[in-house]
Amino acid sequence: MEALEAIKTRRSIRKFRSDPVPEEILEQILDAARWAPSAKNSQTWKFIVIKDLKIITDIAEVLRWGRFIPQAPVVIAVVVDPRLTPHPVEDGTLAAYSMLLAIHALGLGGCWVDPSYREEIIAPMLGISGEEKLISLIPIGYADETPVMPRKELRDIVFINRL
Ligand SMILES: Cc1cc2nc3c(=O)[nH]c(=O)nc-3n(C[C@H](O)[C@H](O)[C@H](O)COP(=O)(O)O)c2cc1C
Repeated sequence: MEALEAIKTRRSIRKFRSDPVPEEILEQILDAARWAPSAKNSQTWKFIVIKDLKIITDIAEVLRWGRFIPQAPVVIAVVVDPRLTPHPVEDGTLAAYSMLLAIHALGLGGCWVDPSYREEIIAPMLGISGEEKLISLIPIGYADETPVMPRKELRDIVFINRL
């Protein structure tokens, strides 16, 4: 899929079929993450591939806006180390977005799920130390919905020279 088309047609997917994600597809998704930009090319990210349904279910139980994640056969947790980069949130976010685009371009669906308001509960479940930061959880699978989400018009968000 062409880049601009992928950017425009990607949607957050919250309903998944039960089909597994092939290993070679999963590897391509993870490979897309490491080509994201990062501050000073620090690349401090780590990606936890979670396939254990018990772990996914336990995480979903504490996430009000992530209850749906056990439908997905795999969830990737994006972790960064704030001791090693001046911009941990940006670095992790860009890696996550690279994966979201790759997921879509490869014919699957994913969603950014925010773990921040339960990080102290979820981090120990995944072996993440108190020094590291859990940026995002990304459930991945074959989509069982085709959502439509509107966007603001360019004229409402673009300004020339100043606001
Ligand atoms: C920082 C951030 C946090 C988000 N948290 C959640 C979440 O916890 N659960 C969820 O279902 N979607 C979450 N989303 C997805 C947004 O709801 C979604 O991107 C937005 O509604 C636009 O829809 P689209 O991605 O289909 O274009 C999050 C997105 C971002 C960028």
